[in-house]
Amino acid sequence: MRGLWAVVPAAGRGTRFGSEVPKQYLDVDGQPLIAYTLAALLAHPLVEGAVVVVSENDADWPGWNETFRIAAAGKPVSTAIGGATRAASVLSGISALPDSVRADDFVLVHDAARPNLALDDLQKLVERGREDPVGAILAAPVRDTLKRAGDDGGIDRTEPRERLWRALTPQMFRRLQLSKALEDAAKAGVEATDESMAMERQGLRPLLVEGSEDNFKITTPADLARFRFILSQR
Ligand code: C5P
Repeated sequence: MRGLWAVVPAAGRGTRFGSEVPKQYLDVDGQPLIAYTLAALLAHPLVEGAVVVVSENDADWPGWNETFRIAAAGKPVSTAIGGATRAASVLSGISALPDSVRADDFVLVHDAARPNLALDDLQKLVERGREDPVGAILAAPVRDTLKRAGDDGGIDRTEPRERLWRALTPQMFRRLQLSKALEDAAKAGVEATDESMAMERQGLRPLLVEGSEDNFKITTPADLARFRFILSQR
C-alpha cells in the first residue's frame, strides 16, 4: 500500500484569535499548538511525512527542534512558504512535496489549527478516501438550526439543515488533480476556502466521511481552553 504525505497550511495570521503570536504557535503545555497537529497526523502508519506551509519571514515557526523531533515520530517534516490565501498556501505546499509523491498519489491537507484530530477519524478518512475515485473529506452534520440574516440583522428565513455538513480537515485528494483544481479556482478569481470547494468546481464529487466534532479548529480563546481541557483528560 502506498504511503501518504500531508500538507499543513500554517501561514495564516489568525486575526480572529486576537493574539500577537499566530494561533498555530500558541504555547500549550510547553509545546506550540502545531506540534500537536503534526503529531496527530504523523501518528498514522501510512503518513510518511509532512510539508508545513509557513508565512514568509515567519519569526514564530519554532523550527526543527527537539519538540518537533518528538512530534514527528522520526518522520520528515519540511517547510514551504505560503501565500495570501489558504489556497495559495496549499498550492505552495503541494509543489514542495518530494518527487516520490506521484501525480496520482493521494495527499492529505490538514489545518495547522486543528490539533485534536483522532487517529480513528484519520484512519476512516484514509480507508474510505482511497476507495473513492476523487477523494474524501472529514465532515460533521450541521446540528443547529440555520438562519439567513437580512442586511438589518433581522432573520429573513430559516434554512433547512438536512444534508448540510460542516467541512473539517484532513481533506484527501490526488496531488495533480488538487493542484490543478486550486490553480483553476485562483485563475477564475474564486477563493476556495477548502480544497474540496476547488475540486467541486471541476464537477467532481468528493466523499463526505463523518468525523468527530472534537476535531475543531482553534479560532477563539475559548477553543484553546477547550483543547487544553481535552489534553488534561487524556
Ligand atoms: O484562517 P483559517 O482558520 O481558515 O485558516 C485555516 C488554516 O489555513 C490555518 O492553519 C492557517 O494558518 C492556514 N492559512 C494559510 N495561509 C493563508 C491563510 C490561512 O496557510 N494565507
